[in-house]
Amino acid sequence: MVCNLGFTAMNMSCLHKVFFLSQFLLSIVSVSCLIETLKQNLGGDPSLFPSNFLFGTASSSYQFEGAFLNDGKGLNNWDVFSHEPGNIRDGSTGDIAVDHYHRYLEGHQYLLNNAYTGLGQPRIEYFCHLPCTALQPLNLLQIFPLFFILFGYFKKACDVFGWSSMRQEGIDLMVSLGVNSYRFSISWARILPEGRFGEVNAAGIDYYNKLIDALVLKGLEPFVTLTHFDIPQELEDTFGGWLSPKLQEEFRYYADICFKTFGDRVKYWVTFNEPNIQVTAGYRSGSYPPSRCSSSYGNCTYGDSEKEPFVAAHNIILSYATVVDIYRRQYQGNLKEKQGGSIGIVLHAKWIEPFSNSTADKLAADRAQSFFMNWFLDPIIFGRYPEEMNTILGSILPEFSCNDRKKLNKALDFIGINHYTSLYAQDCIFSLCEPGKGASRTEGFCRQTPEKDGVSIGESTALAWLHVYPQGMEKMVTYVKERYSGIPMFITENGYVDENDPNSTIEEFLYDVKRVEYMAAYLDALSTAVRKGADVRGYFAWSLLDNFEWTYGYTKRFGLHHVDYGTLKRTPKLSATWYKLFIARYSLVKTLIVKEQ
Ligand code: NOJ
Repeated sequence: MVCNLGFTAMNMSCLHKVFFLSQFLLSIVSVSCLIETLKQNLGGDPSLFPSNFLFGTASSSYQFEGAFLNDGKGLNNWDVFSHEPGNIRDGSTGDIAVDHYHRYLEGHQYLLNNAYTGLGQPRIEYFCHLPCTALQPLNLLQIFPLFFILFGYFKKACDVFGWSSMRQEGIDLMVSLGVNSYRFSISWARILPEGRFGEVNAAGIDYYNKLIDALVLKGLEPFVTLTHFDIPQELEDTFGGWLSPKLQEEFRYYADICFKTFGDRVKYWVTFNEPNIQVTAGYRSGSYPPSRCSSSYGNCTYGDSEKEPFVAAHNIILSYATVVDIYRRQYQGNLKEKQGGSIGIVLHAKWIEPFSNSTADKLAADRAQSFFMNWFLDPIIFGRYPEEMNTILGSILPEFSCNDRKKLNKALDFIGINHYTSLYAQDCIFSLCEPGKGASRTEGFCRQTPEKDGVSIGESTALAWLHVYPQGMEKMVTYVKERYSGIPMFITENGYVDENDPNSTIEEFLYDVKRVEYMAAYLDALSTAVRKGADVRGYFAWSLLDNFEWTYGYTKRFGLHHVDYGTLKRTPKLSATWYKLFIARYSLVKTLIVKEQ
């Protein structure tokens, strides 16, 4: 009897219905607690962020798209690397990843196209999703959290009773978060499978055109990276990748196609993502492709860890300069095209605290920044490598010609900061140091460690390099503001990692309180830096979805949405709801301010 609720046609088990109803009743009680948790953890003052601030999520082509050989895409370096046994911890690849290539559009679009059955009858699923479609533009869901959560149960009922054929997958998830931008990267090998001497892949162009159009249609600003660690394998095989100066011309050719084709709609271009990680992992430790290193640094067949990172970095910096030069001359301000966008670079930016109060350790902390982040930013902004690098490396460091220097002078519109964590640095020039990360000459003689006197700098996470140290966000942004005064900044990535523990339940993954606390604290620190005058114009959470975490494969989860790797189903985590509320509060305050004026 209890189960005869009129849903027998839905083929539901009695137990399932009873379970759902009891869960619903219990949830009414827990809703208020959840709202309390979210309120307590809201963190930061979103009203401090400037109007037009970009709130978004970030992704990259290899980690998200999948479709690795679909529609004419060529192999890239990560395709080849991940297919070699032993390179990826769980033996996985990005062949499918989270299938963003096929799923970015599904959702409301899909639903609207399929609202009626073949017989002209409205589908019941349509009614399940109607409130969501209707209310989203009004932002009501964000403003009334209680309503939102109860509405969540309406949706859940639709799921449980089997009416939810519509999947919220890509852009719809972003719309439902309330973000106003999306950071993604273009797969070079999808556009130019064989580099400059092959054909342009029309299907690749078509894919990104559709993605960009769909974003723009939903009011989401595309924030586009040209290369996020991936290059066509053809360029690795033919030229030896970034060790060859020939890559400058290859990159120019590729970037030019992207500016010409997508630049009418893309106003933010990132040239390179984290080249400082790319060259140290690719050519010093050999843990990323092309797996080159000396035997004392890693397990590689070829390479020279003391030289090659600097050669690769130099070629990347020159490629950067070439591309910025054509963007500036032919697209940005060109009268005919007048794209009027902006261009920059994204660096991995960890904050470094001195190990002690000694002058030597303070200098070591400065040196650590120079040998990692300023290594790229100084040449681009000042036209030369940092002084400490010149002094310690001497002739190992390649030189810039006069012409290079001319192109490099202030060659950027914004600095992208990927900030996750902080470390201590200890001097190894004047003091005796144990060997370890950072201690060698080519790393600047500054040993880096997350621990001091047996105490960690911050709570550890599922990744050994990621410790929670929110004050590092304010310090990092302030450091960049002071060193490169006047250049706008974007936090292009920030996020928290969970272990993909096979013994965890889906509920445990979804209730990601640690991620909420992390984001709240880091955004709080960011808002403090902004209040003190830092010109920060956007924040992108890494990441929209759980995804392929490079050499860790699918063993780590960074997403605001959980991905079931069996079905690829996406489910919002608590952090997604939290981010949505945070952004809603920001939008509301900004709207009220505008109305008052
Ligand atoms: C920065 C990289 O850009 C991104 O690809 C990576 O997944 C995150 N860090 C987390 O490690």
